[in-house]
Amino acid sequence: MTTLAIIGGTGLGQLAELTATTRKAIDTPYGKPSADYIIGELGAREVVFLARHGNPHTIPPHKINYRANIWGLKQLGVETIIAVAAVGGITPAMAPAHLAIPDQIIDYSYDREHTFFSDTSHPVTHIDFTYPYNPELRDALIDAATRAGIAASPSGTYGCTQGPRLESIAEIKRMEQDGCDLVGMTGMPEAALAKELNMRYAALAVVANWAAGKSDGEITMSEIEQNLHVGMANAAKVLKMCIA
Ligand code: HPA
Repeated sequence: MTTLAIIGGTGLGQLAELTATTRKAIDTPYGKPSADYIIGELGAREVVFLARHGNPHTIPPHKINYRANIWGLKQLGVETIIAVAAVGGITPAMAPAHLAIPDQIIDYSYDREHTFFSDTSHPVTHIDFTYPYNPELRDALIDAATRAGIAASPSGTYGCTQGPRLESIAEIKRMEQDGCDLVGMTGMPEAALAKELNMRYAALAVVANWAAGKSDGEITMSEIEQNLHVGMANAAKVLKMCIA
């Protein structure tokens, strides 16, 4: 049975290392996932891949059907999810193209369908979210990065903004005061939904740019693309080491 999935974000719309065998279109009670699930092999292991922003990359962060994406994975028998995500770097270690395995999250997003537990005919359910990312899966990613010889920060707080615009300098200052090391747009509700369905979930963050105000001038798409090119190649090596 397939148990492991990779959700690819901006810069990882497909995983070249994956020997694709099957493509599955799934419908869920919450609607359609972002794309067909690609089931293939990475090393000797069966892996499901999902392009979070669709294929081609057209779904902005606030329009992603996070519930359908996670529900579909559960339907496929997935128990473990590694989420790859492009982020902005806030604190000094989080330089462009650097990798990080966050351990905490703050949700600044809004107006997203963020729970499977909205049904008023059932008793109210509050899941624990003390550790938003699965500690054992994080350890496996940290260990894989070490074995692959790729520098990766072993912790960090991910702040999830609404997007699709990037942030103002003041917003990033506030996030830094809150304790955020990284800023992205897709970490929530994805992490919480996986936890609601009892799935192991961890993120491999790839820094695409210095967050607003952390470098001179404005943030350009071409700098993001260049940094992601380098960072995602390293992320793919870590994934391969972690899974194979
Ligand atoms: N902010 C939010 N999300 C991002 C950024 C950023 O600077 N870079 C890549 N994803």
